[in-house]
Amino acid sequence: MRIFLDTANISEIRQGIKLGVVTGVTTNPSLVAKEGLTDYKAVVKQICSIVLGSVSAEVVVNETEAMIKQAREIAAWAPNVVVKIPSTNQGLEVISVLAKDNIKVNMTLCFTFNQALLGALAGAFYVSPFVGRLDDIGNDGIVLVKDIVDAYKKYDLKTEVLAASIRHPEHCAAAAKAGAHIATVPYQVLMQMMQHPLTDIGVARFLADWERALR
Ligand code: E4P
Repeated sequence: MRIFLDTANISEIRQGIKLGVVTGVTTNPSLVAKEGLTDYKAVVKQICSIVLGSVSAEVVVNETEAMIKQAREIAAWAPNVVVKIPSTNQGLEVISVLAKDNIKVNMTLCFTFNQALLGALAGAFYVSPFVGRLDDIGNDGIVLVKDIVDAYKKYDLKTEVLAASIRHPEHCAAAAKAGAHIATVPYQVLMQMMQHPLTDIGVARFLADWERALR
């Protein structure tokens, strides 16, 4: 199980790497826009230079040939870039073309088992089920993660399951228990994952006793 950061914020990425647990990054146009950044290529290249592992960057066109062209350009930005392609029929064709050229694809916006199955068969490197967005509409995103993991194991498909749209620490824990290879988490969720009030109380009590009796 690996943890990626779902962000375009450079200081969050640097801090996550310092903690020794973040090995990759996923971005999307919404996250880049949220940071007020306008040079998409420059942002992705900068993130790629900071992170040792993979950095997923989304295509921002929708037609098959245009996606293939843009995906090839994005793939040339850095050796660790992975191109995000949406889970559509056009996307499937794009994935199969890119896979033949050994260009790594993260099939994004995955909401069904069938999308994940076809993405893997087309040669996606990662498939990203969107856990939180499924929960938002009353489905169970973690059930989808588990179903995909089980099917990939059963049929020996090498595609990795990257649990995305993680909204809180319990999503991350559940994705790990379901067998996801990776969870991509917002920085705030990463920070919450180590928090427990009993840990804080315990630390305060040990320090107080040290001051009172032992120093
Ligand atoms: C990551 O690849 C996705 O773009 C991201 O996790 C989406 O998260 P959201 O549903 O919270 O926007």
